[in-house]
Amino acid sequence: MPHAHILGIESSCDETGAAVVRSGEKILSNVVFSQIATHQPYGGVVPELASREHLRAIVPVVRKALADADQTYQTLDALAVTQGPGLAGALLVGISYAKALAFALHKPLIAVNHLEGHIHAVLLEERQKGNHELNFPVLALVVSGGHTHLYSAEQKGESWSYRNIGHTRDDAAGEAFDKVAKLLGLGYPGGPIIDRLAPHGDPSAVKFATAQIKHRDRRDRQKENKAQPRFDFSYSGIKTEVLRYVEANGLKDTIEERRRRLSAIAKPKLEDYLAACDRETLNLLASFQRSVVEDLVAKTLAAASANEAATLFVTGGVAANNELRQRFESEAGQDGLPVFFPSRPLSTDNAAMIAAAAYPKWLSKDFAPMDFSAEASLPLRQL
Ligand code: KG4
Ligand code: ZN
Repeated sequence: MPHAHILGIESSCDETGAAVVRSGEKILSNVVFSQIATHQPYGGVVPELASREHLRAIVPVVRKALADADQTYQTLDALAVTQGPGLAGALLVGISYAKALAFALHKPLIAVNHLEGHIHAVLLEERQKGNHELNFPVLALVVSGGHTHLYSAEQKGESWSYRNIGHTRDDAAGEAFDKVAKLLGLGYPGGPIIDRLAPHGDPSAVKFATAQIKHRDRRDRQKENKAQPRFDFSYSGIKTEVLRYVEANGLKDTIEERRRRLSAIAKPKLEDYLAACDRETLNLLASFQRSVVEDLVAKTLAAASANEAATLFVTGGVAANNELRQRFESEAGQDGLPVFFPSRPLSTDNAAMIAAAAYPKWLSKDFAPMDFSAEASLPLRQL
């Protein structure tokens, strides 16, 4: 197979990323500039601020990715950029810059779906470890701040295609982590904070009726058939349950106090968070995480079984979660299903996954026309 050095660019949300990956299997550099500090005071991503920060960061981030990889613009074989899904203004920064570079350098430009990138993060790292054997069908759970999607993935020749077999009806799992952390005065992003605090609470203290889906999604009614059941998720209900718990147990004042205390510390450490949380809050967090993790694992394994999956990928920001990884490993292991995760730096948004997903497209000369644009809700190609 011919080798290719591909520069990937990612700017779909609040991370500006650039990376050089060789032939979808070797990371030569992976630079991520995180905007967390910019969005933290607002408790979530502010789209206009995200675009502005991408504009500021994109040139130095790309230059650093080339320097770290010992490459120049001339030694690259192609450029790849995230087309969507994501924030339109943020995506446009990466796309405009990648187009300008490709045009000036006379190099091919490849448009990549962000969700396909998350799936290829797993493939990239497995190949990098020397694991080239993969049993199909592959079931991939992409679980992040914007998505909770299940795909059946197949490879035909060099090209990959995906069939969606489930998605969230409302909030994504990562979004629920972020909203619950904000609600409890813990700051942004919520996932990593709750991940570290949950082991200090009792996960059986609060019972949640997580993710009960009462209505079928009208959008899916035509697609649905009995031979292919869907495995949908729902995480806005549990966020409301946490809010009700807060109100019913009179936690508002302690939350305000915690918010003040933590916002006075530039970079709170685990001890600072622990000192600011009473037992009841730690129990609530542990119970919330347990409930979301159990739901994700149960539905994904049910989907794996219904689709006779031979391999399971769990990827996206929430795949960094310790309890989620442990539960998947032990429960998929019991079913004899091999489960693969990206390393933690490759679970959250990065450009190495974009450069890796671009390699099969480079092989099949699937290049983007110069007039392509950002697509905020870009779906993954169907089988
Ligand atoms: O993949 P990602 O970087 O961006 C999107 O494509 O959305 O995922 C970010 C999301 C955020 O919601 C964040 O709270 C969550 O992933 N996250 C985690 C952890 N690390 C990041 N959720 C649970 N546990 C973690 N350790
Ligand atoms: Zn992502």
